[in-house]
Amino acid sequence: MRRSDPVVALYPGSFDPPTRGHEDIVRRGLRVADRIIVGVAGTSTHAKKGLFTVDERVALIREVFCDEERIVPLGFQGLLVDFARDQGATLIVRGLRAVSDFEYELQMAQMNQELWPEAETIFLVPEVRNSFVSSSLVREVARLGGDVSSFVSPPVLTAVRKKLGA
Ligand code: PNS
Repeated sequence: MRRSDPVVALYPGSFDPPTRGHEDIVRRGLRVADRIIVGVAGTSTHAKKGLFTVDERVALIREVFCDEERIVPLGFQGLLVDFARDQGATLIVRGLRAVSDFEYELQMAQMNQELWPEAETIFLVPEVRNSFVSSSLVREVARLGGDVSSFVSPPVLTAVRKKLGA
């Protein structure tokens, strides 16, 4: 990559569902990249009981960011670094909410560095009010009938309620 080339970043994750915390990180990502690909992984390191299919998550992220053409949601299968290389993304963005995230994030960043040394992982920090928000907690609270309206955007809230028949 030459310095004058546009910076393409990949923000990978499960996004099941995309939360306000994710949105915060994506918008921050645009401060360091010209374009940010939000990569919805078909294979996550954490096995979880999911809510939405990869295609549904991509469609939700597209709806949430319909005002911003520099944000490109895409699903991917297989290794993150292979997808990043295919997309010309040399920057991998991850959010760090708390110290407890760090061990897992460091391990992934170092593994990705071994697999493809040309990519750099950078960590961005969400606003304090988003720092406790996670997709897994949103899923759990919503499944148990709790109000998640302040943790996700309106289109995501509608989709969560519909999916859960609420
Ligand atoms: O939102 P998550 O579940 O914490 O995101 C984890 C994710 C999807 C970024 C990670 O599991 C991943 O990169 N999956 C793709 C497969 C892969 O490359 N695995 C090796 C990671 S070092």
